[in-house]
Amino acid sequence: MQVSLTVNGEEVSEEIEGRLLLVHFLRDQLGLTGTHWGCDTSNCGACVVWMDGEPVQQGFMECHGLQCGFCTPGMMMTARALLDRNPDPTEQEIREAISGQICRCTGYATIVRSIRWAATHESAVSIGSRP
Ligand code: FES
Repeated sequence: MQVSLTVNGEEVSEEIEGRLLLVHFLRDQLGLTGTHWGCDTSNCGACVVWMDGEPVQQGFMECHGLQCGFCTPGMMMTARALLDRNPDPTEQEIREAISGQICRCTGYATIVRSIRWAATHESAVSIGSRP
């Protein structure tokens, strides 16, 4: 089947098999390996992508929100979406937002702290405009 979409601002039109997962399309056909391939079922959350926005990176750097980094791209996509709909989330709201994602390393405390950091420093960090 033919698919057309915009990825990172670039118009893309490709012929794909109907069963192709988005993560494989992004990684294998477009060479965008920043999207991590985790479980093939969308249960671990490593492959989360977010369109029309930018990730929240500085909070993860400031608060050591990663160790191996495998879950980090998906965590940042989820964090960005959370902060767009709720700019001042509580710890519980953050934990609920990332509950669909598995981190094997951090115990989540530093991830939650990173997202809280991003929420409190949102105006000081250039995160781009939202449509
Ligand atoms: S930092 Fe290793 S899986 Fe989250």
